[in-house]
Amino acid sequence: MALSADAPAGMFGAREPPPHEGTDVTRKTVRIAMNGVTGRMGHRQHLVRSILALRERGGLDLGDGTLLWPEPVLVGRREHALRALAARYGLEHFSTDLDAVLRDPDVDIYFDAQVTSAREEAVRKAVAAGKHVYTEKPTATGLDGALELARLAHAAGVRHGVVQDKIFLPGLLKLKRLVDGGFFGRILSVRGEFGYWVFEGDWQEAQRPSWNYRAEDGGGIVVDMFPHWEYVLHELFGRVRSVQALTATHIPRRRDEHGKPYDATADDAAYAVFELEGGAVAQINSSWAVRVHRDELVEFQVDGTEGSAVAGLRDCRVQHRSATPRPVWDPDVPATEPFRGQWQQVPDNGEFGNAFKVQWELFLKHVYAGAPYRWDLLAGARGVQLAELGLKSSAEGRRVDVPEITL
Ligand SMILES: NC(=O)c1ccc[n+]([C@@H]2O[C@H](COP(=O)([O-])OP(=O)(O)OC[C@H]3O[C@@H](n4cnc5c(N)ncnc54)[C@H](O)[C@@H]3O)[C@@H](O)[C@H]2O)c1
Repeated sequence: MALSADAPAGMFGAREPPPHEGTDVTRKTVRIAMNGVTGRMGHRQHLVRSILALRERGGLDLGDGTLLWPEPVLVGRREHALRALAARYGLEHFSTDLDAVLRDPDVDIYFDAQVTSAREEAVRKAVAAGKHVYTEKPTATGLDGALELARLAHAAGVRHGVVQDKIFLPGLLKLKRLVDGGFFGRILSVRGEFGYWVFEGDWQEAQRPSWNYRAEDGGGIVVDMFPHWEYVLHELFGRVRSVQALTATHIPRRRDEHGKPYDATADDAAYAVFELEGGAVAQINSSWAVRVHRDELVEFQVDGTEGSAVAGLRDCRVQHRSATPRPVWDPDVPATEPFRGQWQQVPDNGEFGNAFKVQWELFLKHVYAGAPYRWDLLAGARGVQLAELGLKSSAEGRRVDVPEITL
């Protein structure tokens, strides 16, 4: 049943595109079913900072005289939560009935930011209903399911995309610029450090949902983060050819959103080595049980024959071979070099939008203007594959090859 919010417009409440006087722009309203928008990612990144931010700007200019006006249809399980969200942002459409929304011929795109375990079934339904699909990662809980979604979407001829936000972050865009400009010479290695302390929930509330720590509910840091590492490594340095991982559940008991103790059945840390096509070796630590002594919550150091870089979410610093100091190992004397101070900031040289919004814009241009788009359900399946093989590697205590997958 589609319901209506009769509350006044909120801060993002423009219900009509603002006028563009003196231009012959055609406005096209596109209805996007957004499922899971009461959650962390769905609400903040996708609804507010992407779709509503696009509306704030007056819509998305396709560059061919068309202005897209995204009209979200909020979908979820709890009517009161959807009603409150719709009222808060002055949105008209929400529904607790996914099947009815998918039957609506006015709805063009299905977006999914639900808990991971609920995704596969919903995306399958959306594809069967002929909707274009845009979804959070991981696309499914296993490679078979993820590949099947990619094949179904391909066969149905719908357009599909998977969130791969990290490569649209300023720090990683600057890193990509360095790679493309040949700054590194031959890239030897990549070292990634991701993580922060997630409170156990006893004396301070946990800052992540409890399902993240239960394997039976689709949780685990490998399932969550390896899909990100797959596309970051692949896009910047080369496809992952093998993985060797060791996972751990460092904090075995946590308290949930209601203060109730539960067993953490999923991994909360993973220490992994990836061999990349092209010969570089990547090593990434991922942990929700580590305290931050870094400048950013994720950092990648890349070392090449010509130079090195350290990139985070926003910043990127470099050291060229010509400016490389000559340390000499002598533990008996204090460090003689100010090592951190010897790096140079890479300038922005442009404006960076919110990474999620940038990718939404690219996806909408793919659907409505036929722009190329490679971050699709097959790319999403590669992420699921790496997570699956990472867990297998840890369980079997060995390095595992990562075969190339195709439709
Ligand atoms: N791209 C990224 O950087 C990034 C970061 C974090 C999470 N994610 C992904 O986004 C998705 C959502 O993560 P989140 O952190 O927003 O989670 P969350 O728990 O905050 O939100 C989950 C949403 O799913 C809904 N839901 C549907 N079925 C449910 C069920 N059976 N049990 C509980 N909730 C259910 C909830 O109501 C809520 O709207 C996950 O798939 C996660 O992997 C992506």
